[in-house]
Amino acid sequence: MDDIETIMRTAPVIPVLVLDDPEQAVEIGTALVRGGLSVLEVTLRTRRALDVLAAMTAIDGAIVGAGTVLDDAQLDHALDAGARFIVSPGLTERLARAAAARRACFLPGVANASDIMRGLELGLNRFKFFPAEASGGLKALKALAGPFGDVRFCPTGGITLQSAPDWLAEDTVLCVGGSWLVKPGTSAADVEAAARAAAGLRTNPRSV
Ligand code: 3PG
Repeated sequence: MDDIETIMRTAPVIPVLVLDDPEQAVEIGTALVRGGLSVLEVTLRTRRALDVLAAMTAIDGAIVGAGTVLDDAQLDHALDAGARFIVSPGLTERLARAAAARRACFLPGVANASDIMRGLELGLNRFKFFPAEASGGLKALKALAGPFGDVRFCPTGGITLQSAPDWLAEDTVLCVGGSWLVKPGTSAADVEAAARAAAGLRTNPRSV
């Protein structure tokens, strides 16, 4: 069975995908995996997102999860479509309990100390730091690392290929997420090149 820590350590970058065409999504996902990024977050932000997710689970070597999961109904739909992990922009008790009940690998979003404390109370200590740049950037993350020594993050929101290395150099950061790899109209060849560049970024070897 998957666990969220292993998934977070699989690649330095998790592409955040907003796709509506299953056929094109398989092409894009295949290019990402070929470029070295195998953990793919399919956001539930489009009409056919669940079809996209289901189609992408067939990509060899891909670990496909659902993002933008806002409630327990969406969690159920995503897991039923084959999602191996669930990402949410925030953290509610109800969603966390639903994820635990279905034994889902769950990466909820936190933006401050109270969010983290709520997560810890629910037995969680791996979080998406979201929206990373808008919530104070690296400075905020470093400040949060002080009181929460065992917590680890996947910062997402406003991160680019250029800024990712600074985030990944932090002991508390296991990976980063970002939508910069796939923009509307990006060709599969360009996606593969972007993935290769991102896959070459290193996480801090001390963050074990
Ligand atoms: C997300 O849902 O994780 C964000 O929309 C991704 O943020 P970005 O588009 O700034 O990378």
